[in-house]
Amino acid sequence: MRIQNKVIVITGGASGLGLATAHFMVEEKGARVAIFDMNSEAGEKAVKDLGADNAMFVQTDVSNDESVQNAVNAVMAKFGAIHVCINCAGIANGFKVLGKEGKAAPLAKFAQVVAVNLVGLFNVMSKSAEQMAKNEPEAGEERGVVINISSGAAYEGAIGQCAYSATKAGVIGLNLPAARELGAIGVRVNAIAPGLFMTPMAAQIDEKIMASLVAQVEAPKRLGDMREFAHCCSFIIENAYVNGETIRLDGATRLRAK
Ligand SMILES: NC(=O)c1ccc[n+]([C@@H]2O[C@H](COP(=O)([O-])OP(=O)(O)OC[C@H]3O[C@@H](n4cnc5c(N)ncnc54)[C@H](O)[C@@H]3O)[C@@H](O)[C@H]2O)c1
Repeated sequence: MRIQNKVIVITGGASGLGLATAHFMVEEKGARVAIFDMNSEAGEKAVKDLGADNAMFVQTDVSNDESVQNAVNAVMAKFGAIHVCINCAGIANGFKVLGKEGKAAPLAKFAQVVAVNLVGLFNVMSKSAEQMAKNEPEAGEERGVVINISSGAAYEGAIGQCAYSATKAGVIGLNLPAARELGAIGVRVNAIAPGLFMTPMAAQIDEKIMASLVAQVEAPKRLGDMREFAHCCSFIIENAYVNGETIRLDGATRLRAK
């Protein structure tokens, strides 16, 4: 699918990988973006930076049915279509199965990560796909593209990442059945499993810890650049034959247990 003038929903687009992708898609590809995020201050700043003709922000909780429906309605009202949905919103919230003194972790902690990373992702994917079905097919075959963000933790989760890893593996699990189903309406579904990226949060990591993380990256010996992530999204959108796939974007990193 050509990206120019297309409407791209980016959840979690007020920060990190999602924000970098919003900039890339508007500034280098001529797309219009709709950012769905909880953080209204950062979301509104992003729209100011990107220009109100090219970008919109809707304060959204991806885990909430009504909130996402309102956000989708707002995009349809402003831009009239949704062509691409990039699901970046996610929380890491690490905790052990057994906490202090061997006490079982509160169930609510696990459920919250599932609610945002997995239920929330399905919520936005399904409601976006409903709108994509209305698009005129490009080149007679494509109405939309969904990109779901997983993580290297889906494969090699560290201690404390049971909930996070389970949700990110869930993202990979839903990829193929969603691609098989939505292929019938001309919508492709793919996932990206990033390794370690140099986000503003990562930039604050203490030098020693950063050195130990970089040591676990195979090659090139550095964290991923957020533009490399955005570029991977644009590759998936532009290449009509990439479907039902999960791309590990991680410099061959396989992180240790801790
Ligand atoms: N940064 C990395 O190195 C890395 C590695 C692997 C996977 N990932 C995944 O990539 C995605 C983006 O990561 P990031 O580092 O850019 O994160 P980030 O924390 O910078 O951004 C995540 C955004 O999601 C938003 N968000 C959180 N809960 C939400 C909710 N309920 N509804 C709407 N928005 C919500 C936050 O407000 C934030 O703006 C996440 O899914 C993360 O798990 C990141």
